[in-house]
Amino acid sequence: MKTINDFNFENKRALIRVDFNVPMDENFNVTDTNRIEAAKPTIIKVLEDGGSVVLMSHLGRPKGQVVPELSLEHICSKVSEVLGVQVNFVASSVGEEAEKAASSLVSGQVLLLENLRFNAEEEKGGEAFAEQLSKLGDVYINDAFGTAHRAHASTTVVAKFFPENKCFGSLLAKEITAIDKVMETGEKPVTAILGGAKVSSKITIIENILDKVDHLIIGGGMTYTFVKAKGGQVGDSICEDDKMELALEILKQAKAKGVEVHIPVDVIAADDFSNTANTKIVDVDKIEAGWQGLDAGPKTLEIFKEVILKSKTILWNGPIGVFEMESFANGTISIGNNIAEATKNGAFSLVGGGDSVAAVKQFGFQDKVSYVSTGGGAMLESLEGKSLPGIAAIKA
Ligand code: 3PG
Repeated sequence: MKTINDFNFENKRALIRVDFNVPMDENFNVTDTNRIEAAKPTIIKVLEDGGSVVLMSHLGRPKGQVVPELSLEHICSKVSEVLGVQVNFVASSVGEEAEKAASSLVSGQVLLLENLRFNAEEEKGGEAFAEQLSKLGDVYINDAFGTAHRAHASTTVVAKFFPENKCFGSLLAKEITAIDKVMETGEKPVTAILGGAKVSSKITIIENILDKVDHLIIGGGMTYTFVKAKGGQVGDSICEDDKMELALEILKQAKAKGVEVHIPVDVIAADDFSNTANTKIVDVDKIEAGWQGLDAGPKTLEIFKEVILKSKTILWNGPIGVFEMESFANGTISIGNNIAEATKNGAFSLVGGGDSVAAVKQFGFQDKVSYVSTGGGAMLESLEGKSLPGIAAIKA
């Protein structure tokens, strides 16, 4: 894996694809700087070597149109603040203006290009557009894990114009290493904790990880499809009736592969999907009509705890209950605490994809687990075992 550490950037201009697709409030204030902070080590390495930097990113989905609300100019001062370096903005991503701004950079300077997706050729993976981008740097660095599953001009196609001078940034390298540590080289026992509402959205991940893990913990809304498929009574809990056969097939496959599957045995049932609903603890397969399971129960959490604490490698994807409501956050918090404890005792833990990342941040676990991924869709596709085009293009 060729990374920035294989290069000296003295007097070189690095063209870096970052993922600054960050959330903003109505006044264009960046509300989560995580992705900017995550790209900082790569940018600083280039500057400290004596190079200059051209940053390129998308923001939102403007679909090839110029949408002023989605201009990267809005985030430029925040990028300067996080990096601790003055960042200049140029209102285009290719062409004369961008080339002039890039070529006038001297060592230590940073330039931020306009939103790449203002140009329709970006998402189409247009070769001519990618070639124009390639004129802006001497070395191409991909540090945008969040966008590595997109075969776009700036994430994939541009790499071919840098046959020797292309590499992974430190964020992307860290993400690849973290995924490998769980999916390829993880110390046993390896445990995957999968939550979230639907079996259908996790099926490819489950099928892929059954070959990699010793334990599979299932939580969240998915629980009830499995429980009903096994003949249980799930009341008004969320359930995909058309996926029940699939759920049984997964359990069969898991057994054949020697994977222990842990499904909740009790739940917190509520008489309404509301934080102020009446609640009671019931066996997972005896939920009456008018009641729905919204969080894992105490017996379940004890079982999950035992499995997690004996694990040496842990993957967490998807919350265990409706953690957005305080009354049903206990399961997710408990899992977070168990993973934190296992990590403290030497386990490697990766939290990736979707709402579990939000939960980890909300409950302050981000410094207590080994790695929190910056990718949403990119992480999910990695867990599904797909090769990400942005990664493949650097390795090619
Ligand atoms: C993300 O936020 O997941 C990435 O920036 C990718 O964005 P996209 O789904 O619009 O391609």
